[in-house]
This record gives sequence, structure tokens and C-alpha cells, in this order.
Amino acid sequence: MEPQQIPVPGERTSQTIRRFRDHGGPVVPIELPGKVNAWMVTSYDSVSEVLLNDGTLFSKSPLNFPALHDGTIPPDWPIRQLIQGDHLLTKDGADHRRLRGLINRAFTPARVASMEPRIQELTDGLLDRLAGEGEPVDLVRHFSEPLPIAVICELFGVPEEERYQIREWTNTMLFHTATPEEAAAAGGQMLAYLGAFVERKRAEPGDDLTSGLIQAQEDDGDRLSDNEMLWILWLVLIAGHETTVHLIANTVVALCADPAQIPAADDRDAWAAVVEEALRSRNSVLNVLFRYPLQDVQICGTKIRAGEPISVALHGAGTDPARYGAGAERFDASREPDAHVGFGRGPHFCLGAPLARLEMRIALSSLFGRYPGLRPAIDADAITYTPSLITEGPMELPVVLGPR
Ligand code: HEM
Repeated sequence: MEPQQIPVPGERTSQTIRRFRDHGGPVVPIELPGKVNAWMVTSYDSVSEVLLNDGTLFSKSPLNFPALHDGTIPPDWPIRQLIQGDHLLTKDGADHRRLRGLINRAFTPARVASMEPRIQELTDGLLDRLAGEGEPVDLVRHFSEPLPIAVICELFGVPEEERYQIREWTNTMLFHTATPEEAAAAGGQMLAYLGAFVERKRAEPGDDLTSGLIQAQEDDGDRLSDNEMLWILWLVLIAGHETTVHLIANTVVALCADPAQIPAADDRDAWAAVVEEALRSRNSVLNVLFRYPLQDVQICGTKIRAGEPISVALHGAGTDPARYGAGAERFDASREPDAHVGFGRGPHFCLGAPLARLEMRIALSSLFGRYPGLRPAIDADAITYTPSLITEGPMELPVVLGPR
């Protein structure tokens, strides 16, 4: 098969992935912007094979391939920093375990669980204001976007008036419509902002995770370098909101298309099942970038040479009929639970999964609890989706709230 160019003009990335899987097979050669050749794994089996061998057969670090890696990242690609930055997503093995262990000292399950009342409060505040916005109201702008930003920024102590710029920098870095210069400038500005932010937190610590990480830096034993600290904040502030913003909105679209699946507001188990089904079939993270084979490998019968970048299409895995049957694309929260790959798998499994699950459940159950008649004000096929190869969700979602 000839390398398939991505992005495909006029097509959502999720559609492209399904088309590649259904017509190209589990491993598809792709051509990234800048005529860079790479691969995409598109099926449940091929995605699992790569993720489960993370760190042994496949590396996350382009630095393992100095001769190749510059040539394998499109020169005009806005998302360079996600691929080349000095953070968790570009490390393997002991280096990766060390960094993750240091973050986990501050980011504990107890800390996440303790956020529940505050997430509920933030959610309720946004829902209170929603009704006053007039109808139709854009649910992205007034709910699914501000909530995850508020949660992650509050957790890490970013003051309210500085939060929205993080959203803007993130969009510039992830949209393939941004120029490379704009993306590089956004990434640079965000790192510079975080440098100053950490200094402020050092001078005036608070009850937030940035202060917790600074404290862990000052403890005896292994510690985070200043550079590691900046990149951790950079990654967590981006990954900690972008993903959830889109998944909330994608799930609202899915539930409104089939309101019989909307559970009662207080049915926690049913809402948890909705969230898992959304992570499987409507995941906001379409692709995770990149894995590089440490040696020549065969994936589902296709040979890939050492160092060639592989994009891992979680969306292809989640909607694969070979795994989930003929109705794989249908949103069906009553499905038997299955090990989906919505949070990835293996050593890079999402660090924020417990927080994301908590936030999703509170956001969705509270939204539909408060506004049971909520429905989109436009047809599903009139929704415009984010122009990104990595994450996908509605740019805007005008809704009417309906009678209470
Ligand atoms: C990693 C998805 C929310 C922080 C990942 C990965 C996926 C993912 C698929 C694996 C990437 C890879 O294998 O290359 C999601 C989804 C979310 C979500 C769908 C929401 C619905 C969050 C939140 C945080 C977070 C709230 C906040 C702390 C991270 C970090 C990593 C990660 C730091 C890198 C972990 C590592 O490399 O060890 N996420 N995520 N994510 N996620 Fe999430």
C-alpha cells in the first residue's frame, strides 16, 4: 500500500483512522506533513501489540535514534514538543519509572479522591451560570472547557486569571492549522510562564501539587531537577485538561443521540459505565505518538524497521469490529465491560486516569441531573471538530437546556 497522507482535508481524523483500518488493515504506512514517512497501527490487536511491548520492543524516546529522529518529525509540525520535549511521554524504562515515581509522591490517589467535593462545587457553579447565558448556549465554552481547566489548574495552584492562556497555548500546539512558528512560540511562552510560576510557588507555597512537587524537590534523596519540574507541569497542565474537555463534549453528543441511555443522576455505577463506554468508542485521544521499534519488528505480519515512527490509533482499536462486533461504533453503555485502551496501556498508562474518571462522572451526571431535557441545537453532522491528529472533540456545542 502507498503511504497515506494525513491529515486528510475535509475529513475528521477519527474517520480517517477507521477508513485506514477497514481498507488498509491493522498496520498502514502514512505520510506526515513535510513528506515524512511513518506508520499507523489501527486495530485492537496491532495497537495492543505495540502498547504491551512498550519499553522492550518499542521506545517512546526519539533520542534513541539520533540518526533518524530529526528526519522523522515533520519540520513544520506544531506538535514537535509533545514528541521531543523532556517529559514522561518521551522516556522509557528506568528513567521513566523514576520520573513517574517522583510525581506520584505528590499526586496520590488520596489526593485525587479528596478533590471530589471541590469538583462537584466547581461543576455546580458552572451549571448555575449556564442557564443565565441565554439559549442556545455553547456547552464547550461554558461547561466542558472551563471545568477541566479549573480542576487541573486549581490542583496545581495556577491562579484563575492565568488559566485561559494555558488553553490557548494548548490549542495552538495541537491544531494542525497553527503555523510551526506559532506553535513553537506557544510552547516557549508556556515554559517561560511555568518557570516564573514555579519561582512564585517557591517563594509562597500553597496547598497545591506544584508546592508538593517543590517540597519533594527539597526532600532528601532523589529529586526532580528544575527542568524536569517545568516539563512535568507543562505536560500535566496540557494532558490534564485537553483530553477531558473533549471527552465530556463527545459523550454529551453520544447521549443526546440516544437519550434512553442517560442514567439517573444518582446512579454512580451507570455513570461509570457511560464513562468507560465513552473512553472506548468516543475517546478524545485518537492517536498516541510515537513508538519507535528498537529493532526490526513484525506487527500483525507487517515489517517495520528499527526507528521508524509508529502512531498508535487508540480510536481504531476502540471501534474495531474484530474486537467489538458489527456494532463496534455504536455507543452502548450496557455493553459487557472490556479492557479498552482509552487511557493507553503499559508503562505510559494515563497518570491522570482516576482524576479523569472522577471528573467525567461528576460533570456528566450533574449536567443531565440538572438539565434532563438538554439537547444539541444543531444536527450532529453540523458540528465542527477540532483540527488535530491527536485529540478530537467539538469546537462548539450549542445546546438548549430544555425544561428542568
Ligand atoms: C498519558 C488519555 C486525562 C495526565 C495518557 C495516555 C492516554 C491518556 C491514552 C497514554 C499516552 C501514551 O501511551 O503515549 C487520557 C484521557 C483522559 C486523560 C482520555 C481524559 C478523559 C488526564 C488527566 C491527567 C492526565 C486528567 C492529569 C494529571 C497524563 C500524563 C500522561 C498521560 C501525565 C503521561 C503518562 C506517562 O507517560 O507515564 N493519557 N488522559 N491525563 N496522561 Fe492522560
